[in-house]
Amino acid sequence: MALAEFLAELDQLNCDAQAAFQAAGTAAALEAARIEFLGLKSGRLKSAQKGLGAVDRADKPVAGQRFNQLKQQLETALEAAQSRLASAATARVDGPRFDPTVPGIRPRLGHLHPLTQTIEELKDLMGRLGFSAVDGPEVEDEWHNFEALNIPLEHPARNPLDNFYLATAERLGATRPQSTEERGLLLRSQTSTVQIRVMEKTPPPVRIISLGRVYRPDDADATHYPMFHQIEGLLVDRGITMADLKSVLRLFASSFFQDDVHIRFRPSFFPFTEPSVEVDMSWQGRWIEMGGAGMVDPNVFRAVGYDAEEFTGFAFGLGIERVCMRRHNVTDIREFYKNDVRFLQQF
Ligand code: DAH
Repeated sequence: MALAEFLAELDQLNCDAQAAFQAAGTAAALEAARIEFLGLKSGRLKSAQKGLGAVDRADKPVAGQRFNQLKQQLETALEAAQSRLASAATARVDGPRFDPTVPGIRPRLGHLHPLTQTIEELKDLMGRLGFSAVDGPEVEDEWHNFEALNIPLEHPARNPLDNFYLATAERLGATRPQSTEERGLLLRSQTSTVQIRVMEKTPPPVRIISLGRVYRPDDADATHYPMFHQIEGLLVDRGITMADLKSVLRLFASSFFQDDVHIRFRPSFFPFTEPSVEVDMSWQGRWIEMGGAGMVDPNVFRAVGYDAEEFTGFAFGLGIERVCMRRHNVTDIREFYKNDVRFLQQF
């Protein structure tokens, strides 16, 4: 074999082997490349060594020298590739260096909406007065929203324009006369509905609160919104009087505002209480109207099957937005529903 041919073969072998060693990304791939080029039995270097024997005698020294040089080069390249893979492996085990002295990345924590905070707080403090919190549905029937609460059909509170009645498919398609239940479903306009739901299921005594959303088609302004929250309270037992009502409301307000709060009753009318009052609270020298209250009307007891001779009770319904606004000096109810974090993050 001519010398030039032999040397060309070695050059090609060098090229291929260097490329293969460099490309090997794993120890297994590198081992495969090692066997292909440097394998003692049938590696390509071994085959080239056989070619050396066929080179003309006169060219042998040059060919041999180049062969030895190539062998050296390939071994060096293999070692380089081996140590490259080894150091990559250690880097993986160690992972990125952790430096405990670098200041951490502070996670951005959210918090509960101010109204949710108020609701939780009210549940907590009424819980300490022995009232357990119950929920009621927001889609109600007329029995629970009106009739059982002694609000007759002709009462203005039942005006379709003052309520969110639901047009159910059944109602729209119905041609036969409808039962009371079918006649009207609406978004509840007050949480007093829950008084009825509880008394229908539980014999007296009861001592509950219910907090939740109510709906009225009011135009939104600084003090009105078509959806807002109420806290309803109901206590029924033997010998309950308005003095109990006033004491509970005063304790309630004093714990909420963490101050000595005065309560004022003004005569009023609600169909489900007799007598009925408007409840005002005075805190930091200002009176504000919190809601309504009164002694449960005997007609309500009759509607749920309670003995109105044996039991008396009081009920109240207060606006949650109102107490929350007063506490934090918020002057526009709409702020609560805009979800502007610049407002919300202050609480
Ligand atoms: N449900 C009344 C309203 O939404 C508030 C209210 C008044 C609730 C008197 C009561 C009550 O429980 O006794 O305006």
